[in-house]
Amino acid sequence: MAKRTLQDLQRQYGGVASSQKIKMRPGGRGPGAAGIGGKPKNARHTIQRLLQYVKPYRGHLVLVLLFMLLSTVTSLVGGYMMAPIIDRLAGRRTETLVGRWADGVISACRDAFAPTLYSWLGHQTAADVLAYLLTAIGIMLVVYLVGVAATYLQSRLMLSVSQGTIESIRNDLFDKVQALPVRFFDRNPTGEVMSRFTNDVDNIGTMLDNSMVSLISGSVTLIGTFIFMVTTNWVLTLVTVFFIPIFSMGGMAIAKRSRKYYKGQQAALGAVNGYIEETVTGQKVIKTFNHEALCEEEFGLLNDDLRGKQFKANFYGGIMGPIMGNTSQISYAITVGVGGILMATTGFTPGALTVFAGYSRQFSMPINNLSQQMTVVFSALAGAERVFAVMDAEPEAPDRPDARPADGMRGYVKMQDVTFGYDPDKTVLHHIDLYAKPGQKIAFVGSTGAGKTTITNLLNRFYDVEQGAITVDDVNIQDYRRDDLRRNIAMVLQDTHLFTGTVRENIRYGRLDATDEEVEAAAKTASAHSFIMRLEHGYDTVIEGDGTNLSQGQRQLLNIARAALSKAPILVLDEATSSVDTRTERHIEHGLDRLMQGRTTFVIAHRLSTVRNANAIMVLEHGEIIERGDHDDLLAQKGRYWQLYTGAAELD
Ligand SMILES: Nc1ncnc2c1ncn2[C@@H]1O[C@H](COP(=O)(O)OP(=O)(O)O)[C@@H](O)[C@H]1O
Ligand SMILES: [Mg+2]
Repeated sequence: MAKRTLQDLQRQYGGVASSQKIKMRPGGRGPGAAGIGGKPKNARHTIQRLLQYVKPYRGHLVLVLLFMLLSTVTSLVGGYMMAPIIDRLAGRRTETLVGRWADGVISACRDAFAPTLYSWLGHQTAADVLAYLLTAIGIMLVVYLVGVAATYLQSRLMLSVSQGTIESIRNDLFDKVQALPVRFFDRNPTGEVMSRFTNDVDNIGTMLDNSMVSLISGSVTLIGTFIFMVTTNWVLTLVTVFFIPIFSMGGMAIAKRSRKYYKGQQAALGAVNGYIEETVTGQKVIKTFNHEALCEEEFGLLNDDLRGKQFKANFYGGIMGPIMGNTSQISYAITVGVGGILMATTGFTPGALTVFAGYSRQFSMPINNLSQQMTVVFSALAGAERVFAVMDAEPEAPDRPDARPADGMRGYVKMQDVTFGYDPDKTVLHHIDLYAKPGQKIAFVGSTGAGKTTITNLLNRFYDVEQGAITVDDVNIQDYRRDDLRRNIAMVLQDTHLFTGTVRENIRYGRLDATDEEVEAAAKTASAHSFIMRLEHGYDTVIEGDGTNLSQGQRQLLNIARAALSKAPILVLDEATSSVDTRTERHIEHGLDRLMQGRTTFVIAHRLSTVRNANAIMVLEHGEIIERGDHDDLLAQKGRYWQLYTGAAELD
């Protein structure tokens, strides 16, 4: 069989070939990708906001800058010591500004330590150069040690700045995410939100403690080196400066390429990671449909694509660097050549030429590094922009200043002419009117997408209604404090969510101040007690990974226990028993019946048998209540409910 390409797979299998989806993910934004790419839209504004986070560390930053200066200066000065040493050995004197100064310092130190030095070395005259050498080496040692200490302190300080900064960014982001309305999560997939916390924040950290330091110390080195070069020999400086642009242009061209391939690599990495995530979480489905081979083929292609792009990215990013370094040897050779001529014609000394050659090489390094670091900075700023975009997202509207507590709520719920759409121009509910007296049970039936869940979403203010009103105990729900309102509404939904922790802790999530006895009483109400006691550690059994070690029905029982623990007078059951088998359902229903006692209950059920005894049944179709009444009324009407009940129509 001829080797197929990704495009072939997509053409043949369409949406099944999941790479189609993955391919559409923007580069590097998939979960687990490094999140590189994208230019900041408003860099200045983003930097200003970042600075707000760095601000508490100004003191640290000043010290960092000082230590950075110190370490740069020590490396420049330490290097310069070589000039007088070499020249002395050659029996000459260094005639440059810094050289004369260094020579002076070494001589002065030698004279100061003369008695000790000469007693070590024996002969006074013959040891003259030797004493000079030893002193110079001693001074270099001290200078470099100071440099090492400065670098150490600078990195330590900078690390605490960057880590502290991203800690507070993470905190703010997390707090913000908690304050965001449900609507936000409709529009932003979980993976996207996750990668704000991981990739984007990490990139900011890398920028702060890596690129910023490189950029600043690079610039300082550049300026310092230039000054030292000019004071050493201006003719040679001109020669060097003339060659630099030629070579750095080559460097920049390569950097540009490497940036392009790097982006490609990140996109490919995102695709591979996304594919792995999808196939690992979807293992059962893949096995059920025997798609292993297709998956392997597809993964192979994606993997191959990644290899190619990674090769190019690494080639241009890593291997071309050293090659560039070697080409700069040409400019080094020319510098030394011209230096040789100067030495023969002027008083230029071999020591000065040695240090100058070293500097000229150092000079081009920061320039090449600069463009590389700029890439990191740009992608970090783009990441920061995405982080700030989340922080700027509209939070849940604050409570009204005169919002009231909801103590002693009885649970008299009324909806008056409620019209609602998630999207303003696409209404999902039309003119919903209903009431539920305290303790009553109201059921919603109707096909999928009819708007049943939406009604309950409005009740606990996941979304706020703009047309019509919902009242509880004759007070508009928007006039209650939101926390209080939600405390008064217990919900059992179809998809269960358990947290890592013990069974007891998970039930207690329903009301944190509940005692152990209350937790167990709630479990008994929910008919969960007996299965919990059969678990290895009873109530102290640890639930992991959203309860994969429990059955669907058991998870649901824990959710019911959670709801039973809360003293909420209003209860919402949204398809609470849809995903369990009939036997488990019957078991759960015992718990549910007890749970419903004395509470206003809204129940949405897939199986009509569970809603028979409701005080009122609302039949919803396309967001409208088309029939209402109790079971017997509705059957007598011989309408939609009757059709559904007698099987003349199917709930789809
Ligand atoms: N978060 C949402 N954002 C936008 N539209 C939604 C959202 N949730 C549901 N809808 C739409 O609202 C309509 C009613 O959905 P829903 O209330 O969940 O139906 P039901 O619970 O009766 O199956 C559907 O057309 C659905 O596509
Ligand atoms: Mg629903």
